[in-house]
Amino acid sequence: MTTSQWTRHLRPALAGLDVYDIEPLPAKARLAANELAEPWPMEVVQEIGKRVAQIELNRYPDTSGRKLRALLAQRHGVEPDAVVIGCGSDELIGFLLTALGGRPSEPSFLVVPTPTFHMYGHAARCRGIGVLEVPLTEELELDEPLMHEALDVATGAALCFLARPNNPTSSLWDAAVIERLIAQHPGTVFVLDEAYTSYAPGSTLWRAGLPDNVVYMSTLSKIGLAGLRVGYCVAPPALRRPLNVVRNPYNVSATSQAIAELVLTKFEGVQKAMLTRSLAARQKLVGLLGKIPRAKVFPAHANFAVVRLDPAGEATRVAEALAQRGVLVKDASALPRLAGCLRVGVGTNAELDVLAKALAEVIPGYGADAK
Ligand SMILES: Cc1ncc(COP(=O)(O)O)c(C=O)c1O
Repeated sequence: MTTSQWTRHLRPALAGLDVYDIEPLPAKARLAANELAEPWPMEVVQEIGKRVAQIELNRYPDTSGRKLRALLAQRHGVEPDAVVIGCGSDELIGFLLTALGGRPSEPSFLVVPTPTFHMYGHAARCRGIGVLEVPLTEELELDEPLMHEALDVATGAALCFLARPNNPTSSLWDAAVIERLIAQHPGTVFVLDEAYTSYAPGSTLWRAGLPDNVVYMSTLSKIGLAGLRVGYCVAPPALRRPLNVVRNPYNVSATSQAIAELVLTKFEGVQKAMLTRSLAARQKLVGLLGKIPRAKVFPAHANFAVVRLDPAGEATRVAEALAQRGVLVKDASALPRLAGCLRVGVGTNAELDVLAKALAEVIPGYGADAK
């Protein structure tokens, strides 16, 4: 096959990066995507349908999502201009990396603990931004001395993403460590990504008047609205204009803006009830995973739990055998610190019953060690 001459202009890094595109598989239990599994009640779905019918689809939406930004700003007690919305927080990660992409004379770089949310490193590498990965401790906590060291390398890191709770580990990193990192590295922008904060009630690090090197980021994806693709951040004053410069106008669709506004104003109570059910289901999930002989279940603070199987090779076998039974879980065993681990989402009660049955079929002695 001949190679077109223009291919030399492709960014070299892209050749080594994966495409994230997953074929939708029919599933009896979809426990691999970190969604809120609880469905919206029919009355809410109908109200949403009515609201969508009113949208003028021939018109562009508000360029920056003013109404939705105002609602999110109100929740955080900040002015609407502090809030930037994105097509999922994935898009905001891109904006942050583009805005803080550094100068040619001063190559910018990103520090991330590892393992953490894949898109931080991926989006940086797509932009040619160097990534310094700092392994978590064996207990999946931040390694504070190593983090300080990494943030200090060369002229200092431009950006550091800290997900709390973290994906894929479900760990809730020590707040005091995070506060110290932020205070001791004022030349680095820290993004506090609290995508899963609803699953760790009372743990948020949000407060009005965070230091000026902190961006607070979250998303509606984990609270029942993953289909909308709406993420948001509260940015310090000096970062608001740069983020809006790199943001495309109309980056969140009229449909997503309208549905998000409706849910946040009218159905917050319903949403809370769904989250409460999901928290109860997490207990059940942790119990089910705990019945795997010789397994270690790590503390779960997000809407998924991590379990280490013994021997380590079991993780891949079990994930595959579960998939054959229509139960989709994530084999995390190739990730740093997660050898032998599966990441399993909190499903609905019914999905967890399917999981329990499948585990019993797939794992010899399942439940036998139960105390
Ligand atoms: C820690 C973390 N941040 C951000 C995201 C992206 O969320 P969104 O759906 O808003 O793009 C995810 C998605 O799984 C995540 O795990």
